[in-house]
Amino acid sequence: MCGIFGYMGPKQAAPILVEGLRRLEYRGYDSSGIALKNGDFSIYKKTGKVVELQSILPEKLHGNVGIAHTRWATHGGVTDPNAHPHLSENGKVVIVHNGIIENSRTLRNLLKKKGVVFNSETDSEVISHILEYELNRDNSPTDALRRTLSKLVGTWGLCAIFLDHDVMLCARNGSPLIIGQGDGETFVSSDPHALSTHTQRVVFMDDGDIATLTTDQITMSNIHGDSFDTDITVLEEEWEEAELGEFEHYMLKEIYEQPDSLRQCINGRLDRVRGNGRLGGLNLTPLELSKLPHVRLLGCGTAYHAAEIGGLLIESLARVPSVAHIASEFRTNEPVVNPNALHFAISQSGETADTLSALKEIQLKGGSVHGVVNVVGSSIARQCGKGVYIHSGPEQAVASTKAFSNMVAALTIFSIQVARSRSLSKEKGKEIINGLQQIPHLIEEYLANQGPIMEAVDLVKDAKSVLFLGRGISAPVAKEGALKLMEVAYIPCLAYPAGEMKHGPIALLEEGSPVIFIVPNDHVKEKSRSAIHECRARGAKIILIHEQGDDISDEGDINIAIPKVNNYLSPMLTVLPLQLISYHAALALGCDVDRPRNLAKSVTVE
Ligand code: AGP
Repeated sequence: MCGIFGYMGPKQAAPILVEGLRRLEYRGYDSSGIALKNGDFSIYKKTGKVVELQSILPEKLHGNVGIAHTRWATHGGVTDPNAHPHLSENGKVVIVHNGIIENSRTLRNLLKKKGVVFNSETDSEVISHILEYELNRDNSPTDALRRTLSKLVGTWGLCAIFLDHDVMLCARNGSPLIIGQGDGETFVSSDPHALSTHTQRVVFMDDGDIATLTTDQITMSNIHGDSFDTDITVLEEEWEEAELGEFEHYMLKEIYEQPDSLRQCINGRLDRVRGNGRLGGLNLTPLELSKLPHVRLLGCGTAYHAAEIGGLLIESLARVPSVAHIASEFRTNEPVVNPNALHFAISQSGETADTLSALKEIQLKGGSVHGVVNVVGSSIARQCGKGVYIHSGPEQAVASTKAFSNMVAALTIFSIQVARSRSLSKEKGKEIINGLQQIPHLIEEYLANQGPIMEAVDLVKDAKSVLFLGRGISAPVAKEGALKLMEVAYIPCLAYPAGEMKHGPIALLEEGSPVIFIVPNDHVKEKSRSAIHECRARGAKIILIHEQGDDISDEGDINIAIPKVNNYLSPMLTVLPLQLISYHAALALGCDVDRPRNLAKSVTVE
């Protein structure tokens, strides 16, 4: 959730670190800080966004080695002293840390008894003091770090620099760190895309790894002292950071990128002749697909909604029992894992701690998990070792939009692939494959003619709450719409399968209550029509998302038409007006659209 950036090389480190922080800011943005080595350590920390930190930095800040951090508070409030970096007692070691040190209270008490004075309330500060203590016991920096790590319980992505040693040390356990190798310079980052303007040559650290860095050398070892070869990966170009261009916000830019990012996802993966999908990374033979006892799909937030849609598609097209699970609940609910079943871990960032632990639990019980992930080389992608990349390109707004559509597209292709290995006919397969091929074009068509979005915004922006309803495949879309409006515009939202409305949520309705209905022209449309009438009869104002020219198109008070679409593929169209309503409502309410309060792009704590 926090972001780390580090630099050592011939250049002035400060501007490189600040730029790195700016690129990582979406990971956490309650405070940030920077430490530079220049004979001594110069440390600056500030609550608020990276621009706040920038505003307190002196114009000339010298030093060729430095580390920096953007924070998302876990232990200790959002204050300047709690921001990282943290300096050790005698000022010899400075660290930045992502993750949680679970035994920090015990360690803090032990250190206090030894006379150490703490400057923050964070769990992380213990690390700098223990590291200095171990260094003073004549250990090399790397050995001192090993001894320090052996005392910690919890998770870490950790970076340390030393006043008396020309090395930077990194360690990973549960929180990502990537090292970039430049020409006579070395970088460290929590994210590959923050490195890509400096170098394409990177090392993805694994849990348990320790890296000892100089300007021209990366030496890898582990906590036990075993060393191993440095495995350099060359990054693909798609990980270069996208600039805003003509757009005011990343969220809007990413909504508009959906046609192209979908093309990236489906290109080469549709077999139009055989009416089949071609997801290479799955490595499953038709025989294996035909024998699947069931499928489980795991994710959090938007990824969970995509999982629900995937589950419905797999079950209805391939006739394999399929269930989506909220990953944060899965591990602790003592799941029964069938080693013959197929499991999917779905995640944009590939770093979501809840999803990662759920997948490890499945693997521990002999199950096999495929990743459906956006960020190449991320922890979930690596832990699964198989699966598909959704190829959305970097998604920088905290609210996920284009990744949702690509997750749904990838899972749709998978559903067709399993379905074709079972009972789905070639004709039916071709129909859906051709429909999928058309989706990017239909999205462009809708974005060119969005309908009365601003009228819908006027209706929801001052509402006490907004109810989202949909049936069948549109029920998870309703949930996604509610999540989006809630997270960017801070409006309380509820989402229900439309049939459940009369079993409780109907009590909320009063004169003027906004209800958003998602009703594509599918087999449950008529049931949704009845639910619309039931809400209307209680004075609710209906915002209806429907297909162009459909006979339901005037049932709402505000009617938003999407192009006609294959029933199985409607979520990729019906979600668009919901994304736009959320974006414009947030703007109208003066919210920070790309950086909603309290949130972070990748949630790396459980
Ligand atoms: C989406 O708009 C949210 N910010 C959030 O729910 C997100 O989808 C969730 O945290 C899962 O993230 P992941 O896809 O990176 O695993």
